[in-house]
Amino acid sequence: MIASPPRIGGLDVQGWGDPEDPVVLLIGPAEHVSPDWRQWVRALVEAGRHVLLAPALDAGEEATALRGLLTDISSRPAILCSADTLARVASALVVTGPPLASCLIVVGQASVEATAPLDGLPILTLDPDTLSDPAETADAVILAFLEQQAPRDALYYQAGSDPRTLRDALGCFATGVTVVTTLDEAGQPVGLTANSFSSVSLDPPLILFCLARSSSNLERFKRAEHFAINVLHIGQQPMSGAFARSSAERFDGVAWETWDTGAPILSGSLASFECATHQVVEAGDHLVFIGRVTRARFEPRRDPLLYFRGRYRRLHFA
Ligand SMILES: Cc1cc2nc3c(=O)[nH]c(=O)nc-3n(C[C@H](O)[C@H](O)[C@H](O)COP(=O)(O)O)c2cc1C
Repeated sequence: MIASPPRIGGLDVQGWGDPEDPVVLLIGPAEHVSPDWRQWVRALVEAGRHVLLAPALDAGEEATALRGLLTDISSRPAILCSADTLARVASALVVTGPPLASCLIVVGQASVEATAPLDGLPILTLDPDTLSDPAETADAVILAFLEQQAPRDALYYQAGSDPRTLRDALGCFATGVTVVTTLDEAGQPVGLTANSFSSVSLDPPLILFCLARSSSNLERFKRAEHFAINVLHIGQQPMSGAFARSSAERFDGVAWETWDTGAPILSGSLASFECATHQVVEAGDHLVFIGRVTRARFEPRRDPLLYFRGRYRRLHFA
């Protein structure tokens, strides 16, 4: 068993098993980690699950803190909680949009009222003292339920089902990370983190990135008629974070220069491409900006910053 990173969603979380495996999140005060629960943790890890134990939380802050934790886990976890924590767990899970968990296992006697707000979420209520088949063990029941509701192997998205599964599927495509920039009409630099960059054509030299219609900078990019793509190296992860946060001060402390169009070229980037906007294609909730590359520069010695399954990664050569 190997230890997980200690902080997720701002909370100290204990972990067992391989962090690449699907997550089962245990929620309950420390005293719930009884010999039974310890046995289940062992069985879960052996069955290829990554088990996380949420810390005990003050009742007042629990829903917000748990929601932060659930949002920060890179794919929707299965939750295992005790019946007496269920009401608090339910209030963390009930938000608008797709559910933050793939399924829920409640140990003990869960009241119908407590599970009612979780309509649509697969729930197993397990009372280890009253298993219907005496030959069955609680861990076997838990594992069978998980295999059905949160399979270890392939997950499926079907048109119209929840967008989180589609996002998780798309997150299997590892990308680099870029900061896309332009200069607005007032001469102010504009930029945001984007991993939707792709090369399109060598002759003519075309590249693209996709910009969410919800971007506060959409109109600026449409009006500018030029942009730059800055591919980040491994040391520029803080910059990726800064350009993904909503803040007017993204360029504070950032060294940049301009070439022909005025679009900010971030100094020291792994590669930069200056482009004239060639075409803007409307595509669902994004606009595809295709740019004709007018200048490019790259740094041959550094490693790229990577993004995979919702997390930053680095190149690893075995
Ligand atoms: C790794 C990563 C990749 C992202 N890729 C894109 C992208 O390709 N297109 C996009 O519109 N937003 C993307 N975002 C989100 C934007 O960076 C983020 O929403 C930003 O705050 C938008 O700011 P704005 O509204 O000022 O444009 C990405 C965020 C991260 C962390």
